[in-house]
Amino acid sequence: MNKRLRLIFFGVIVVAVGGILFWQKQATLKSEAVTINGITVPPVPVLDAEEIAQGKVTYNQYCVSCHGADLEGVPNWKISQPDGTLLPPPHDSNGHTWHHPDTLLLQIISDGGLPENGNMPAFSETLSEEDIYAVLAFIKTSWGAEERDFQWWISTTQNSFYE
Ligand code: HEC
Repeated sequence: MNKRLRLIFFGVIVVAVGGILFWQKQATLKSEAVTINGITVPPVPVLDAEEIAQGKVTYNQYCVSCHGADLEGVPNWKISQPDGTLLPPPHDSNGHTWHHPDTLLLQIISDGGLPENGNMPAFSETLSEEDIYAVLAFIKTSWGAEERDFQWWISTTQNSFYE
């Protein structure tokens, strides 16, 4: 085989393996109930398209200025400010929103963050519970299958590993 053919051959293999790995990651979303240690977790629900669309509008109106157009947060969000407060984190898989169950996310968004943690406003006067769940549905579309599986699991069992 000449050098060029070998390069093409190698390229095809890399793309094929990458494709399979990507497909597997997409395919890990649990579509059946899972029982672990006697606790049965129902299948991860499919997100409702209308709810996602509604959540995106609400996100773009109330959250985008701090958490970013692509849910990317601000650069250096991991570094505390001199006063100990935090900057707006991302909401996609790179952030830690998926570490928290739905009930805690609802609480943070309704009541606001703790003042000592940073400037996360309270939205209970502006947004209904339904609006907030729609924003969460929109946020969940940015997560990979593993993050969704994990967050569904902790939401259902009310376990939170990370506070
Ligand atoms: C004025 C800026 C600002 C706006 C607007 C804002 N946030 Fe935040 N948010 C922050 C900051 C700063 C933090 C980090 C401090 C903390 O966790 O309390 C944060 C943290 C959070 C957290 C907890 C961390 C996490 O990812 O679990 C959630 C959830 C959240 N925001 C959701 C929202 C949603 C949804 C909206 C829109 C309805 C919104 N925020 C609007 C500034 C903002």
